[in-house]
Amino acid sequence: MPRRPMMAANWKMNKTVTEAQNYTAALLPRAADAEGVDVAVFVPFTCLHEVGRMAENSAVIAGAQNFYYEDSGAFTGEISAPMLKDVLARAVLVGHSERREIFGETDTLVAHKTKRALDAGLLPVVCVGETKEERDAGGMWEKVSTQVGRVLEEIGEVGGEGIVFAYEPIWAIGTGDTATPDDAQDAIGRIRELLREERGGEFADGARVLYGGSVKPANVAEIMGQNDVDGALVGGASLEVDSFVQLVEAAEPPSSDGE
Ligand code: 13P
Repeated sequence: MPRRPMMAANWKMNKTVTEAQNYTAALLPRAADAEGVDVAVFVPFTCLHEVGRMAENSAVIAGAQNFYYEDSGAFTGEISAPMLKDVLARAVLVGHSERREIFGETDTLVAHKTKRALDAGLLPVVCVGETKEERDAGGMWEKVSTQVGRVLEEIGEVGGEGIVFAYEPIWAIGTGDTATPDDAQDAIGRIRELLREERGGEFADGARVLYGGSVKPANVAEIMGQNDVDGALVGGASLEVDSFVQLVEAAEPPSSDGE
């Protein structure tokens, strides 16, 4: 079975509840028409209940952008996995580079969160990627393999279909400076090899690995055309529903075109 592609919107710190309602209402029928592709929207906590409710029993997966791995208690300002489930989230971003770089999330924290998401029945989308300085110094793979490896150490026995990785080189995020399709394939192909070495072929063939970083309608086809790229995690170009729908349509497997 080929992996099912995924097109994921990361709204980051954008949209009021009203804006989220309008977007979701426009997206739902268009996502329902998309064949063979998972459509996910990662929205601010304040919109999540509404988007989760609207997307319940639909083709759209509502997700959060972050959470904390304890279930409850004295963790002021944090949101737990049971709270996300309560508002009908089905997925969660873990370790986005903005969480790591601006809010100091470590590989160990990211690994714990990933384990907790899996145990709670949330689909984790684990983000990894290197800075420009690290890439220029030849350190891309050391950074990315350490990030992925730490997660694999922590998560215990799970099937590959239950986890998604997103390779998001930090220098390509929000800069308009997309990785070339070859760079994306190179990093994502190496991630898949690492999954194969550490977890075996079934896991590596089941786990999806997305690319993120300045994906837009003009460049999505060549990125999706790479062997190991299973979809995209999109910031800026996901904020307008028309542009996001174009990306979803580009992720549909060729066999379902025009049917
Ligand atoms: P942009 O698509 O705005 O570059 O953001 C990518 C990203 O960080 C998605 O998580």
